[in-house]
Amino acid sequence: MIYDAVINNHGLPHNPIKALIGPRPIGWISAISDKGELNLSPYSFFNMLGQNPTLVAFSSAGYKDAIAFVEKSKEFVCNIVTWDLRDEMNKTSTNLPRGESELAYAGLTTAPSHFIKTPRVAEASAALECRWVQTIQPSTVDGQKMDQYIILGQVMGVYIDDQFIQNGLVDTAAMRPIMRAGYFDYFVATPETKFSIARPPKVALRAPHQQQTD
Ligand SMILES: Cc1cc2nc3c(=O)[nH]c(=O)nc-3n(C[C@H](O)[C@H](O)[C@H](O)COP(=O)(O)O)c2cc1C
Repeated sequence: MIYDAVINNHGLPHNPIKALIGPRPIGWISAISDKGELNLSPYSFFNMLGQNPTLVAFSSAGYKDAIAFVEKSKEFVCNIVTWDLRDEMNKTSTNLPRGESELAYAGLTTAPSHFIKTPRVAEASAALECRWVQTIQPSTVDGQKMDQYIILGQVMGVYIDDQFIQNGLVDTAAMRPIMRAGYFDYFVATPETKFSIARPPKVALRAPHQQQTD
């Protein structure tokens, strides 16, 4: 099939796009307000966008509390969501009234961050302590402002539960991170689904600006 993604005439009971661009990593964003209220919510419009310095981004459909809080405090934490915390993560997507803690609602606790004031989720196996870099509210191709807010953040500190470091490498599969697909579907990374491919040998010396850095 092919359909028009502006008018979404796919004819299916649900929009299929998130089942195609998936599974997506989940940034479980903790952020504090100027009154010290703590917000925690999952974002699967989330990814690492650059390194040296490490750049991450998440995007909100509408101007949600997480965006308002980050724009005030200029910082946030991306907690990594793993299989054991799937139900807790899901609970934190509830739209509680501002001031009510999603952490308490989900039975989670906080641990202090090292480089920023915003705490991380103590139960999470890894967390990225970020400072706000930029908020982007894009326009459509017709010049209409989208009701979407993309936050870019620079990673200032990284927490990793030491039990997941084996022989100097992070054992991602042992952590069992979960990822979001379409509908109510998720995927989990496990040792069985892991595979490795070495990079191909370099064929020719390239100009410095064309050399791969990752
Ligand atoms: C797995 C998962 C991923 C989500 N990803 C996003 C997202 O990328 N962008 C978004 O706006 N909402 C997303 N949501 C919904 C938000 O988490 C939810 O609206 C948010 O918790 C509202 O909280 P807030 O208004 O207090 O920030 C997601 C929900 C779940 C369960």
